[in-house]
Amino acid sequence: MSQTILIESNEDLRKIFSLNLNTFVGTDVIHRKNADDTIELLRILPQVGLVITQAKVGSEDTAVKIYNFIKSENLATALLIIGESKTISGEIVCLKAPVSWEMLIKEAAQHLGVNLQDSMGKVRPDFLPVGVHYFYDISKTPCDIYIRIKKGPNEFQFVKRIHSKDVFDKNDIQKYEDQGLKEFYVPKDYIQYFTTFVTNTLIQKLEREDLTMEDRILTTANAHEIVRESIQAIGFDDVSVELSDASINSMVKSVKNSPQVAQLLKFLFSNKVSHAYQHCHLLALMCHYILSKQSWYKPEHLETLSFVAFFSDVTLKSNLQMQISSMRELTESNLTDEEKRQVLNHAKDAVALMANHPDANDYIKTVLIQSHGKTDGVGFEENPGEDLHPLSKVFIVADAFVKILLNPTMPSSKKDILPIILTRFPNPSYQKIIKALEQKFQ
Ligand SMILES: [Fe+2]
Repeated sequence: MSQTILIESNEDLRKIFSLNLNTFVGTDVIHRKNADDTIELLRILPQVGLVITQAKVGSEDTAVKIYNFIKSENLATALLIIGESKTISGEIVCLKAPVSWEMLIKEAAQHLGVNLQDSMGKVRPDFLPVGVHYFYDISKTPCDIYIRIKKGPNEFQFVKRIHSKDVFDKNDIQKYEDQGLKEFYVPKDYIQYFTTFVTNTLIQKLEREDLTMEDRILTTANAHEIVRESIQAIGFDDVSVELSDASINSMVKSVKNSPQVAQLLKFLFSNKVSHAYQHCHLLALMCHYILSKQSWYKPEHLETLSFVAFFSDVTLKSNLQMQISSMRELTESNLTDEEKRQVLNHAKDAVALMANHPDANDYIKTVLIQSHGKTDGVGFEENPGEDLHPLSKVFIVADAFVKILLNPTMPSSKKDILPIILTRFPNPSYQKIIKALEQKFQ
C-alpha cells in the first residue's frame, strides 16, 4: 500500500480526509503536525508517495519548507497543498480552502497514479507497490515487475524492469537499492499470486537444514518484515500464519546455535537487519540464556517465548515506538496522540490479533499480555510484581536488557547493563533471573 502524510489541524477534517483517502485511494495515511515532524519522517521513509499539507500551520510556512526539503533531497514524493502558497503555487497544485474530501481524493489519486473509476470514487490502482525486500530470497518472479518513474512534477509512469522469465539474485536487487529504489510495482491482478509465491519460497528456504547461520538470520529477518507488513495491512491470514511458524522455528534453531552476543550484534548491524528483527532475535536469545539456567526449563518454554518475541511489537509501526519502555518515555516522546495510543495498547492489541492464530495457546497469550508488566496489556509497569507468570518475568527482564543493548545512548556492555536492570526490577524473583543472565555471561 502507498503511504501518504497528512497535515491537517482540524480534527474532523483530518478524520474525514484519512478515511476517504484510505478507502478510495488505497493509501495508508500517517498524520503529522508540522513541517519539522514531516521532514523527520521523510528522512526515514523516503518512499512516502504523497504529502498533503495545509499551506501554513500557525505562522509556519509548512508547504514551502516541505517543498524545499523534497527538492533538495530529490525525493519522488509528490506534494499537494490545501490553501494558498504564493511562493510555489506555479509548480505545485494548491487546492482552495475549504476543500471537499471528494476533490481531495481526486487530486490525491492523480498524484499517486491511481485511477478513480467513477464519481463514487471506487479505487482501481493498476499497480501495487511491494518493498524491495520481497525480492531478497527469490530468484525469479511469477509475473512481470515494474518500477514507477516520475514523468512530470506530479505525473508517474510504470516501466517494466523484471520479466517473468528473468533469473536474478540478491546482488541484482542490491543494485536497484543502491540507486535509491525502495519499491517495485506488481500489476494489481497478480499481487496475490506474487505474495504467495514469495511466501512459499521463503518457507521452503527457512525449513532447509543446511542454511548457514548468516543466511538463516537474514532470511528469518526478511520473513519477519513481510509478516509484520501483512498483519498491519490485513491482519492474520493463512499465508502469514504459515510464514510466521516457519520463521519462529528457524529463529529458535539459530538462537540455540548462536555465536557470542558481540559477534552476533556485529553481524546484525552490518547487514541492515531491521530494528524490529534485531530486537526480536536478541530477545529470544536472552530468553534462551535465562531459561537454560532454570531448573524447570523445558524446550517448549523457549518456543513460547520466541513466539511472543516474534509478535510482541507487531502492531507498532516505527522504531521510535518500539524503543519506548516506560510511561515516562511515552509521555515525553514526540509521537502523535494516535502513535502514543498504539504504544500504550500494543500488548493488548497483539493478544487480540492472536485470536486468528491457531498456535497461540494460553501460555503465549498470558506472556504476551504481561509483556510490559501489566496484567491488562495496557501501558508499562515501573516495578513488575511477583504475581506475573514465571515466563513473563523472564521475558520482561530479557526485553529490558535488549532495549538497553540496542539504545545508542545507553551502555552497550553486559557488565554495565546488568546493574541498571538489577536496580530497575527490585522484586526477588526478577533479581534471581538477572543473576541467571549474569552467570550465563561469565
Ligand atoms: Fe512491547
